Amino acid sequence: MDQQVFIFDTTLRDGEQVPGCKLNTKEKLELALKLETLGVDIIEAGFPISSPGDFESVTQISKAIQNTVVCGLSRAVEKDIEVAAQALKYAKRPRIHTGIGTSDFHIKSKFNTTKEEILQRAVQAVKWARKFTDDVEFYAEDAGRTGNEYLARVIEAVIKAGATVVNIPDTTGYCLPDQYGEKIAFLKNNVSNIDKAVISCHCHNDLGLATANSISGVIGGARQIECTINGLGERAGNTALEEVVMVIKQHKHLGLFTNIDTKMLNPLSREVAETMRVGVQPNKAIVGANAFSHSSGIHQDGFLKDSLTYEIINPDEVGADGSRIVLTARSGRSALAYRFQKIGYDYTRNDIDTLYQSFLQVADKIKEVQEDDLHALAKAYKPESITA
Ligand code: KIV
Ligand code: ZN
Repeated sequence: MDQQVFIFDTTLRDGEQVPGCKLNTKEKLELALKLETLGVDIIEAGFPISSPGDFESVTQISKAIQNTVVCGLSRAVEKDIEVAAQALKYAKRPRIHTGIGTSDFHIKSKFNTTKEEILQRAVQAVKWARKFTDDVEFYAEDAGRTGNEYLARVIEAVIKAGATVVNIPDTTGYCLPDQYGEKIAFLKNNVSNIDKAVISCHCHNDLGLATANSISGVIGGARQIECTINGLGERAGNTALEEVVMVIKQHKHLGLFTNIDTKMLNPLSREVAETMRVGVQPNKAIVGANAFSHSSGIHQDGFLKDSLTYEIINPDEVGADGSRIVLTARSGRSALAYRFQKIGYDYTRNDIDTLYQSFLQVADKIKEVQEDDLHALAKAYKPESITA
């Protein structure tokens, strides 16, 4: 039977850390309600100790959300954990997300301490959090650059202390997909109590590998992916929710599924882009303006004969506005005939051959030939050759 991959959305926490993306409580609440409708399993609502505004947002989200787990971030600091627990007090299903850096960069440069001390602090943080809720997620920050043997010791100890989810962040987006997948598989095979916790992937996109790494992580045995709408997040961003969800849906042989209503992906992407004031790049997978646009003659001809020739996803499935045949100087005759037909001109093959020459002259001068340009071309053409 297919296994579920839990979708942990951190748009409102890691995504909101992006400069210029800060949201007020009302905006956060509206997006949280949409995320619940989308079907995410966990909403990371914020970092309650970071500011009174974020505390209030996590409180309001906790009150409003009915079924989805609501999570608050904290450092491995008692006060942080207490404040996160207070902000989550109205949540029907609260989760505290606590953790500490485990790589040498963090242990030596950030904390100036030892591996043993970090391990103790990790265990202590989980114990503090467990006083408030049974759902405690531990993150080993910079796990991507942490040696597997030490990471396994930390993970075993925090599970023993009560962690129910263990997050293995590739905080700096450093890992290659095979390295990240092997890291997860290593934990699966070498942590004696790993069956008592869900392993979570939290990948950043500094090398453009966040989606590939998260998928490699679930192939290695993780069953939760932390991600954001449009891939928003620190620096180059986090794993894009829409991408991992569609990879899992497309590749059925993985034997995995998510609870996401994929038809909401495009509308919600637009809403997040507007609310967070960060546009989506046109060539972005799944939700970019060009994700279902075809502009070269070879592609257009194939697509018009059978859409599956050049599209692996039906745009309806992800709530996109449909496929587009864009007319540029690289377009071919089939695309021209198709676009003319769409606005009411049913030309013969000979008509199109002639019109194509005038079309190219216009197309060479502008970036995209629009409907008005087609009407002008039709007007300039001999009207008696129009058959309908
Ligand atoms: O990237 C990271 O390591 C994080 C942790 C706080 C989970 O965002
Ligand atoms: Zn992160």
